[in-house]
This record gives sequence, C-alpha cells and structure tokens, in this order.
Amino acid sequence: MSVKVRFVSADGNEVREVEAKAGDRLLEVAQADGQPLEGTCEGQMACSTCHVIVAAEDFDRLPRASVEEDDLLDLATHVTRTSRLACQILLTEDLGTLTVRIPPEARNMQGR
Ligand code: FES
Repeated sequence: MSVKVRFVSADGNEVREVEAKAGDRLLEVAQADGQPLEGTCEGQMACSTCHVIVAAEDFDRLPRASVEEDDLLDLATHVTRTSRLACQILLTEDLGTLTVRIPPEARNMQGR
C-alpha cells in the first residue's frame, strides 16, 4: 500500500505530490524527490536539518515526537507548533495523505 506525500515549498507556490511506501521514512522520500532537506546526520537525531512543518490537520495523526526530537527542534529556525524532524516520521498506511511544508531557508541550515 502506498502513502501520498504532498510537499509544499517554503513560499507555498509549489506543491509536489509523490507516492511513498508504508515503512519509508519521510526524510528519504523528501530527498528522493529533490526537496531541499539536508538531513546532515542521516537520521541520527543530531542535526535538525531535516525540519519540516507538518500541515495542522495531519500533525495530530502522527505519533508524538520524542523528548529528544523536541529538544532538537528547539534549535531549528522557523519552528512552528507543528514542526517535526522528517527523519523521525515513519510513513504508515493509515496516514493516507500527509502534507508537509519545507521551512524557509532550508538550504541555509547546514553548518549551524
Ligand atoms: Fe539529522 Fe533528522 S537528519 S535530525
């Protein structure tokens, strides 16, 4: 079964819809699609360069972030109430569709 992921660009002008497999991590799906998420630590929860802003209606359908993830998000720029680390989001069949926005300046976050 597949999950549909909708990537909204930082300025909101561009929307890309891609098919992903249940069990994929959101970061991998984003990178495969060429989204500007560095993911510098490759999912080791040590960088926060995979920060995405989840659509409010989808945020509550995801499992809650761990304390470690919340701590890292505090270090990211443009954090919102529905921010998450893409490397920590596992796509599951029941999600159906997930919409996430790329934060502004995603490209400039490396080296923070
Ligand atoms: Fe580094 Fe997600 S890739 S925290």
